[in-house]
Amino acid sequence: MVAKLQAVRGMNDLLPADSPRWRGAEQRLQAVLARYGYEEIRLPLVEPTELFARTIGEVTDIVEKEMYTFQDRNGDSLTLRPEGTAGVVRAGIEHGLFQGQLLRLWYQGPMFRHERPQRGRYRQFHQIGAECFGSAEPELDAELIAMTAQFWRELGLSGLRLELNSLGSREARAAYRERLQAYFRDHQAALDADSLRRLDSNPLRILDSKNPDLAALIAAAPSLPEHLDADSRAHFERLCALLDALGVAYTVNPRLVRGLDYYGRTVFEWVTDALGAQGTVCAGGRYDTLVEQLGGRPTPAIGFALGLERLLDLLAASGIDPATPREIWYLVSAPGACRAQAMLLAQQLRAAADAPTVLLDHSAGNFGKQVQRADKAGARVALILGEDELAGGTITVRMLRAAVTTQETVPRDTIHATVTRLAAQERP
Ligand code: HAM
Repeated sequence: MVAKLQAVRGMNDLLPADSPRWRGAEQRLQAVLARYGYEEIRLPLVEPTELFARTIGEVTDIVEKEMYTFQDRNGDSLTLRPEGTAGVVRAGIEHGLFQGQLLRLWYQGPMFRHERPQRGRYRQFHQIGAECFGSAEPELDAELIAMTAQFWRELGLSGLRLELNSLGSREARAAYRERLQAYFRDHQAALDADSLRRLDSNPLRILDSKNPDLAALIAAAPSLPEHLDADSRAHFERLCALLDALGVAYTVNPRLVRGLDYYGRTVFEWVTDALGAQGTVCAGGRYDTLVEQLGGRPTPAIGFALGLERLLDLLAASGIDPATPREIWYLVSAPGACRAQAMLLAQQLRAAADAPTVLLDHSAGNFGKQVQRADKAGARVALILGEDELAGGTITVRMLRAAVTTQETVPRDTIHATVTRLAAQERP
């Protein structure tokens, strides 16, 4: 017995039954991105390990324990990208894309994190992300967030909640960090192991703890908004006013801190209760100092990434099928010369730019069996080419989805017009 090989734990195959839903959702999101002026960037799946340590942060869950890191044959330390922002910034600096003008980029693809797999949490997952470089104005925050709100409208999704917060300037955050550290030190005995570990390195992340035993302690902790610097406060108030004016509803969540270190000022998450524990579908924020920190010219920026597995799960839970329906025409023919003619016809039909899917039955079954298969394949139209049609230069067009099956034998160059006419008759 040969041992069965299986996919790596937490890494999923996307099978043909599901790919139309994925493609439909991706296409709708891409259409919205295009309307807002975003251009696609495609980047390597593998980057130098140092890139992620320097952007996401040394003392974050991702860098500390979730990265797929390995040495290549040259002995260089490489990492499968756990997210997209670091790579976009690296590429932007490397190719001189940050020239002071506004730059709007989007990307899509697999990301890798060695997390404990569960519903909505995988080791290979897929994001569509967008990054906007070159402006620190709150108008850009509002535009980007409004675009994500448009995603949900486009997909027919309701029930996602927008949570918003400001992390303030680097200095304000540092001052707040100290206050918070002092507070948690005073209550050290109540902390769990994870929080104790973060107490020195990253106390803000204690606010993120999901441990119910810590909820009361966290609720009573000094709050970030009270420590905001004046500029960040003004930025945040302006953003809130703009979102109000654009009709984008939100709640301010002063405990929202995000798990990556590069953020400052605006952070946001779109969350739902419909997916269990992993309810954040889309998340992002400002990172005004990251480009400079990696050696580029000072370039303020804001972005987000959306988890496609979670989005598709939410669409299914909401009874929404984002797949674009497929139009299938199925060619039924007798063997020999008829089959050869049918093959030629299929080829001609597929050449049109707006051609439907044209399937040719390749079995030697009788017409009845072939029509059954056409039906099973989801075809709307069967095109039948037997000896009579071959001799007469005609084709029999049969509509398979009508309440009463209609069919007509017509000249072969009138197939499209015939399908349109018969389809019109189907409607009551
Ligand atoms: P993130 O919050 O780490 O942010 O991930 C963004 C989204 O990716 C999450 O809200 C979630 O939907 C999805 N996601 C994350 N991890 C997993 C996982 N293990 N399994 C399934 N889905 C997952 C970032 O990645 C930032 N780069 C976002 C950003 C872009 N900020 C500014 N620009």
